[in-house]
Amino acid sequence: MTDIHADIEAIRREQGSRLLVLGHHYQSPAVLRHADVIGDSLELARSAAASTAGRIVFCGVHFMAESADILTTPDQLVYMPETGAGCPMAEMADDYQVEKAWRFLQPHGGSFLPVVYVNSSARVKAFCGRNGGSACTSSNAAKVFQWGLAQNRKIFFLPDIHLGTNSAHDLGIPDDRIVIYDYRQPNGGLTPADVERATVIVWGGFCPIHVAFTVDQVREIRSRWPAAKIIVHPESPKEVVRIVDAHGSTAQIIKYVQQAPDGSTIFIGTESQLVKRLAAENQDRLTLKPLHASFCPNMAKTNEPNLLRVLRDWPDRNRVSVPSNVAAEARSCLERMLAL
Ligand code: 13P
Ligand code: SF4
Repeated sequence: MTDIHADIEAIRREQGSRLLVLGHHYQSPAVLRHADVIGDSLELARSAAASTAGRIVFCGVHFMAESADILTTPDQLVYMPETGAGCPMAEMADDYQVEKAWRFLQPHGGSFLPVVYVNSSARVKAFCGRNGGSACTSSNAAKVFQWGLAQNRKIFFLPDIHLGTNSAHDLGIPDDRIVIYDYRQPNGGLTPADVERATVIVWGGFCPIHVAFTVDQVREIRSRWPAAKIIVHPESPKEVVRIVDAHGSTAQIIKYVQQAPDGSTIFIGTESQLVKRLAAENQDRLTLKPLHASFCPNMAKTNEPNLLRVLRDWPDRNRVSVPSNVAAEARSCLERMLAL
C-alpha cells in the first residue's frame, strides 16, 4: 500500500460519517478504491440527495458535483479534487443560447416542455426548472420522455443530440419528427415549419468520447468475431446504436455484462476506463473488450494526489457552490427527475 493510499484511508476513517466520497464509474481504480459509493450519474445524484454528511467529495466531472450541491442542504459542502474537470458536452449549451432558442420555439411549436440531460450546467437546469421541465440521465431518459409526451407536450431536449435522438427513436417517434436544433446557426437552422413538424427538438451537442464509435468498427468486429455481442452507450450516434445488439446507460451496460452467459465475448462502446475495469472483474467468466479505446480526459483529471490534497486541506478553490437563486430553480428540475 502506498503512503498516499494509507493517508487517504486514515482521513476517511477519522472523518467517518461526516464525509462522503462519491466516485463515478469512469474514474480510475486507484480513485474508486476510496469511494463510499460508486455509481452512474443517477445513482450518485440519489446518494448525494440522501446523504447527511457535512462534506461530500465528488470524483467525477463538474456538472455532477453541481447537482450534488443543488440536492444537498446549504450546510453540506461539496468539493472536487480537480474543479477543472468539466464536460465538453455540458459546455455546448449555455443558458443564454438556450433562452434564445426557447424564445424562438415558443410561438411556432405549441406547448414545449424542456428535458435536460444532467450533463448540463446548473444554469441550464435552472432554465428547465423555471419552465416546468425535468432533468434526465441516460438511465431514465425514456421514462422522462414518456412523462412529457403523456402531457401532449413537445419535448425540447438538450444538450446531447445522440441521447435525444436515440431516446425518441426507442419510443417509436419517426425520424422526421425528431428535429435537430443546431445551436451554431441563427434560430438553430430551423424554419417555423420544421418546429411545427417536430415531436422532439434536440439540441446539437455531443460527447467527444462516445462519438468515437463508428459503423465501420461494428462491421469490423462482426466480420472478425461473428459470435461476439456489441453494446454501446446511447450517447453514441444513431447509425451505430441501430446496428448493435444492445444499447444502454452505464448501469444498463453493467447489468448486461452481469447477465451475460459464461464464455461470452462482448465489445463495449463506452468510456474505456469502465470497460477496462469490467474486463478485469469478469476475466474468469467473460471476454470484454472496448469497441474502440476512448478515454474521457476530464474524468482522468481526478487522481489520488489531488484527492488527498482536498481531504487534507479543504481548499476553498476546490468547493463547488451553486448560487442559491440558480440552485432553487435547478433543484425543481432535478427533484422532478428523482420523483419520476
Ligand atoms: P451516466 O449517466 O451513464 O453515468 O453517464 C455519464 C456520462 O458522462 C456519460 O458520458
Ligand atoms: Fe462528458 Fe463524455 Fe466525459 Fe461523460 S464521457 S463526462 S459526457 S465528455
